[in-house]
Amino acid sequence: MNLLLEKIKNEGIVLSETVLKVDSFLNHQVDPELMLEIGKEFAERFKDHGVTKVLTIESSGIAPGVMAALQMNVPLIFARKRKSLTLSEDILTSKVYSYTKQEENTISISNKYIQESDRVLLVDDFLANGQAALGLVDLVKQAGAEVAGIGIVIEKSFQDGGNLVRATGYKVESLAEIGSLENGEVQFRKEEARV
Ligand code: G4P
Repeated sequence: MNLLLEKIKNEGIVLSETVLKVDSFLNHQVDPELMLEIGKEFAERFKDHGVTKVLTIESSGIAPGVMAALQMNVPLIFARKRKSLTLSEDILTSKVYSYTKQEENTISISNKYIQESDRVLLVDDFLANGQAALGLVDLVKQAGAEVAGIGIVIEKSFQDGGNLVRATGYKVESLAEIGSLENGEVQFRKEEARV
């Protein structure tokens, strides 16, 4: 996805050897045109997977998730990280530890919106240590539904998440794969380095 790679090159700020700030288009300000293209790309990559729902986590997964859902003509569900006033009964929960933030979140969804017959595409903004994606897999399994695949906007390939999540056997598609953030520079994995 050249548009995304260019955006990362031009606007991404390398905060450290492990953290990339993309607040100008994904994590704070959101670029709707880019999100639409991301949605189309996920729809294309998972078109043969019988997706009936898209599931993400608040908050930064919602923009790419909703565009993917729009393109696939299915609903989007976002797991909550905080207790909701209205989400009180029949909830499914999973504990997600963030190595980046060193805190544990309990993510939850109402079991009303995922049925056993559903094939669920998981979407998230970043794949770092993979804990969020595994938490979403857990929620889908608790609902008795099938994971149709996992779509990631930015994967940091030098962290453990990619291997962990691919070990589940589900199809994982990352639209940008970052090989390194060393020396204050974004290096994409070899096959993407032409941008
Ligand atoms: P994991 O899910 O892959 O294990 O990742 P981890 O717990 O380490 O990440 C926790 C949060 O930090 C997630 O956002 C994740 O998207 C974000 N994150 C991880 N690495 C980076 C990075 O290099 N750059 C940016 N910008 N974010 C990163 P979150 O807390 O759920 O935030 P939000 O969705 O509410 O924005």
